[in-house]
Amino acid sequence: MPESKTVAFPRDFLWGAATSAYQIEGAVAEDGRTPSIWDTFSHTPGRIAGGDTGDIAVDHYHRYRDDVALMARLGLNAYRFSVSWPRVQPTGRGPAAQAGLDFYRRLVDELLAHGIKPALTLYHWDLPQELEDAGGWPERETALRFAEYAQLVGEAFGDRVQQWITLNEPWCSAFLGYGSGVHAPGRTDPLAALRAAHHLNLAHGLGVQALRSVLPAGSSIGVSLNSQVVRPLSQDPADLAAARRIDDLACGVFHGPMLHGAYPETLLEATRSVTDWSHVLDGDLRAIAQPLDALGLNYYTPALVSSPATQPQGPRADGHGDSPYSPWPGSEDVAFHQTPGDRTEMGWTIDPGGLYELIMRYSREAPGVPLYITENGAAYPDKVDDDGRVHDPERIAYLHSHLSAVHRAVADGAEVRGYYLWSLMDNFEWAYGYAKRFGAVYVDYATLARIPKSSAHWYGKAARTGQLPP
Ligand code: NOJ
Repeated sequence: MPESKTVAFPRDFLWGAATSAYQIEGAVAEDGRTPSIWDTFSHTPGRIAGGDTGDIAVDHYHRYRDDVALMARLGLNAYRFSVSWPRVQPTGRGPAAQAGLDFYRRLVDELLAHGIKPALTLYHWDLPQELEDAGGWPERETALRFAEYAQLVGEAFGDRVQQWITLNEPWCSAFLGYGSGVHAPGRTDPLAALRAAHHLNLAHGLGVQALRSVLPAGSSIGVSLNSQVVRPLSQDPADLAAARRIDDLACGVFHGPMLHGAYPETLLEATRSVTDWSHVLDGDLRAIAQPLDALGLNYYTPALVSSPATQPQGPRADGHGDSPYSPWPGSEDVAFHQTPGDRTEMGWTIDPGGLYELIMRYSREAPGVPLYITENGAAYPDKVDDDGRVHDPERIAYLHSHLSAVHRAVADGAEVRGYYLWSLMDNFEWAYGYAKRFGAVYVDYATLARIPKSSAHWYGKAARTGQLPP
């Protein structure tokens, strides 16, 4: 193993930031965009902290030029964004809406003109409401609709976008959207959650095939997963079994079909009381297991679990919101615990070792597939100081330690080609509304002014020099 000396990254490493459409765009009723499940959900009283919605968000739809110029000034060379499905295909089927496509064409051209490489995510949770009304992700038809949407966006931007991501964190779409109900559409039905997971897998597989049929050679197609790093509280066999159970429900449920062509037997057994998995039709697993050109890892914090017999569960310990409903079907025999250590404002323990472990796991499970950290970052209660600046040393420390973990993994042979900080700027943090700030750039919600935090300057320097500043 080569000794890691200075913390210098490969010369062509991508130093990016990430966002998603609903969290930043606003302009929810402009140019023919129809409601998505997140419009409906955020306008339902009691769903979002402070009654916040994405109606205006940070008005990126109108300010994208300034936002791109800001990224360029900081020195970033990559940007991951998502396309809003209801903006480009308002009913979730049929022809594209030209005005919607035009917005993303302008955005991509602006990025390219500034030397910033775009990475386009097709689905970051904003399902057209019309498709949810027809049954949503628990229904197979939604996967077929996604493939059509993927093809339409691929045809529109294949000539200028090289990096494609089918789904962002399908775990959240399935298990928070249909299981615990803390995300849109807010359903609390374990069977619906498991059916949704399968149809998201199918959407991914069919979407990859649709993209392959229209994208030029040399395009890169991948997916962004929030695979959990699951740690057992002890080596007691009951705790090891609990960890296995959650690993299956967080990772295996997607890694299995996408990377290995099958659901883990242990997952099928553990969920037998919820479903017989008869919604998995012949040919589905073959359709899902498409060769991939890249894998995206989103990482924030590990999970610590045990058998309830070893240690009963503490409050909200799985870090996925206040719902009385579990996002983990078939895991009644698992207790979640707070991982020891300092935490971010989300209550998520800071554990860069987890990122290293995750990268090494992917390197083993998908040998030869280039990896990207498609999200990593931290929320802190940032404030504008009297000097007009925003000082966020905790975020710098977080980024430093996690990028060091990436560097260590690269030194140990992992093929990590880029890192996208979550997030470029403060934005709509789903059920938490605007209360949690993940940005490297501060947003003043009264004026929508952008103020780069000290972490943005720190990260920009890393991007410009290819080395981590102290
Ligand atoms: C994952 C999601 O993809 C993103 O939308 C969210 O804001 C961050 N994690 C932080 O929770």
